[in-house]
Amino acid sequence: MLTAIFTFLVATSVFFRATASPAAAPAVNTTNDGQTFVKITVPPFPVDTSLEVIPDSQHPFVAPGPNDKRGPCPGLNTLANHGYLPHSGVASFEQLIEGVEAGYNMEHDLASALSALAILARGNAFINLVSLGGESDLVPPLPGKIDGPTAGGLAKHGRFEGDVSLTRHDIGEGDYQNFQDDLYDQFLTYVGRYGNDSPTTGNASVVTLPVLQEYKHHRFLSEQASNANLEFSIARMILSYDDAAFVLNFFANGTDNVIDTAILGSFFRNQTFPTNWYRRSSPGNFTFIQDTAAEILDAHPLVPGTNKNGVWTPDAPLNTGSTFTDVHFNVMQNLASSLNNVTGNLKTNVETLLAAWAKPFGVDPTKVRPQGTPGQ
Ligand code: HEM
Repeated sequence: MLTAIFTFLVATSVFFRATASPAAAPAVNTTNDGQTFVKITVPPFPVDTSLEVIPDSQHPFVAPGPNDKRGPCPGLNTLANHGYLPHSGVASFEQLIEGVEAGYNMEHDLASALSALAILARGNAFINLVSLGGESDLVPPLPGKIDGPTAGGLAKHGRFEGDVSLTRHDIGEGDYQNFQDDLYDQFLTYVGRYGNDSPTTGNASVVTLPVLQEYKHHRFLSEQASNANLEFSIARMILSYDDAAFVLNFFANGTDNVIDTAILGSFFRNQTFPTNWYRRSSPGNFTFIQDTAAEILDAHPLVPGTNKNGVWTPDAPLNTGSTFTDVHFNVMQNLASSLNNVTGNLKTNVETLLAAWAKPFGVDPTKVRPQGTPGQ
C-alpha cells in the first residue's frame, strides 16, 4: 500500500483538524454575469462495464480543428477525437464521467472525483464546463470572477497540470501542455531497456511495470537537476504517479492486458484508439490505481519537495492521517478559498463537486475546505 512507503507521513489528526477549516470570510455576492446556471448531478453507475471493443462504429477518429481544445491528458484528448467527449474539447462534469467510463472502463467514483476536480480547479462550476486544453470562449470565468479573470482550462499549470510529466515538459522548460517527441523518445528507450518481448511488435516492445518504475524516476531526477523551480508536492507526486499507473491499467488492451509500443504511440502521439483495442474488462477503481502507483514509486521512493532557486528542499510533512488524506488536503490548499463563500445555485454545484472529489479519499468534504488563493 501507498501508506507503507511514507513513514514520515505519520498520523497526527490534531494538526489536521486544526488546519483544515478555512478562516471565516464574508459571503461573496455573485451576479451571474449573463451566464446561465446548469445544475450538476452525479450520473448513475453505468449498466455495462464489460470488455468492449473501442471505438464502436459510432465513434470514428476525427482530427481536431484549430478551435478544438486539446491539452495535457492523452486519455481525454483521445476521447474527444473520437466523440466520446465533445469534439470541441469543452465538456461538462457528466460528460467527462460518462466518457472515461465508456472509453476506458474507469470506475464511477474515480471518474467522478477526477471530473469534479477538473471543473472545480480549472472550469466553471456555474455553467458546468471545462476546457481540456487552454482557455476557451465557451468557458468564461465564474460569475463575479471570484476565482480570477479566466477559467484556465486543464492546460493551466498549477492545480492539476504539473511538473514531471511523462511526455510534457515542465513549465519554464518548454511546452508543458502538448505531446513532446524528445520526451517520448526517452520513454521508448526505457521500453527498450526494461520492456518485455512481443511476437507481434518485437523484442523489448512491451511496456511493463519496470519501464514505468525506471522512466518515472529518470524523469524526476532529470527535472530535479534542470528545473530550478520544480514543484513536486505530495499531491503532484502522487497524481503524476497515478498518470503512470493509468498507462499500465487503462491504455493496455483489455483482451490480454498488454500495452506495446504500437498502443503507446497510438494514445500518446496520435491521440487515437489503437486498432483491435478493447477497454479493460472490469472497472479500474481508486484503490487499484493507487496500488499500481505505489508499486511504481516503491522501486525508487521519493520525498515530496520543491527546488527553491535550484536547491532541492523537502516539503514539511502534512501529517493529515495518511498519504491519501495528505493528497486530498494538498489539492484543497490550492483550490480557491472563495468557493467557500458562494451562495444559491453555485453553492449547490460546488458542494456536489467537493463531495465527489472527496469520496474516494474517505474525507468529509464539509470539514476539509478549499484554502487556496483565487486566480492562482
Ligand atoms: C475525468 C478524468 C480525467 C481528468 C480530469 C484528467 C486530467 C489530466 C490532467 C490535467 C493531466 C495533466 C497532468 C500533468 O501535468 O502531467 C493528465 C495527464 C494524464 N492523463 Fe488524464 N485525466 C483524466 C482521465 C484519464 C484517463 C481515463 C487516462 C487513461 C486512459 C488518462 C491518462 C493520462 C496520462 C497518461 C497522463 C500523463 C501525460 C503525460 O505525463 O505526458 N487520464 N490528465
